[in-house]
Amino acid sequence: MGAMPIRIIQHPLAQHYLTHLRDETTSHALFRTLARKLSVLLALEATHGLKTTLRKIKTPLEEIQSPVLDEELVIIPILRSGLGMLEPIVDLFPKISVGYIGLERDEATAVASSYYRKLPDLKGKTVLLVDPMLATGGSAQRALDDIYKLGAAKVILLCIVAAPEGVALVEKAFPAVQIYTASVDRQLNASKYIMPGVGDFGDRLYGTS
Ligand code: URA
Repeated sequence: MGAMPIRIIQHPLAQHYLTHLRDETTSHALFRTLARKLSVLLALEATHGLKTTLRKIKTPLEEIQSPVLDEELVIIPILRSGLGMLEPIVDLFPKISVGYIGLERDEATAVASSYYRKLPDLKGKTVLLVDPMLATGGSAQRALDDIYKLGAAKVILLCIVAAPEGVALVEKAFPAVQIYTASVDRQLNASKYIMPGVGDFGDRLYGTS
C-alpha cells in the first residue's frame, strides 16, 4: 500500500496566519498567537474523520439521538517547539491525554537525540503527533518509532511547515501516518533549516534567538 497522501490546508485564513509566521518582523508574542490559531485550523482539518456515537439526550423540547465523539485521543508534542501547538488542541479536545517526547537536534549534525519521554498508554489510541517543523524528518521518525512500538492504532502528524525531505522520509518509513501541514516548502538548506520556512520555530516562539 502507498503512503497516505499529505494534506495541505488551503484555507485562506491558514495561509494568512502562515505568511505572518514567516515574516521576520513578527514579534514573539504575535508568533505565539498565530501558532495557536493555525494549530486549531490544522487540528480541525486533521480530525474530520473522528468516530462519533449517538447519545440519547433531551433538548428542552424533545428527546433525540445526537452524536458525541467516540475515539480515545492522545496528543504528543515534540519538545520544545511542539508545546506551541499543544494548548489550543487540548482546549478543543479536553478529554485528550497528553504525552511528551523531548528531542534535541545537534546543530552540527542535525541528528535528534532523546532527552525526555513521558507517555500515557497508547494501545489502540489515535495519536496526534505535533511537531511544527517537519525538516529532515529525523525527530518525527524517532517519535513515530516509539509511538508505534507502544501500540498506537492510528497516528496523525500535524506540522505547520514541512520540507519535501521530511515528508519523503516519513512517507517511506511510516506509510500509514497521515500528515497535515499548512505548507510543503522548497527544500532544506545546508544547516537543515526549511527554506523559505519560518526560521527556528522554538526560538521565535520563546524569544531565545
Ligand atoms: N526546526 C526549525 O525550528 N526550523 C527549521 O527550519 C527546521 C527545523
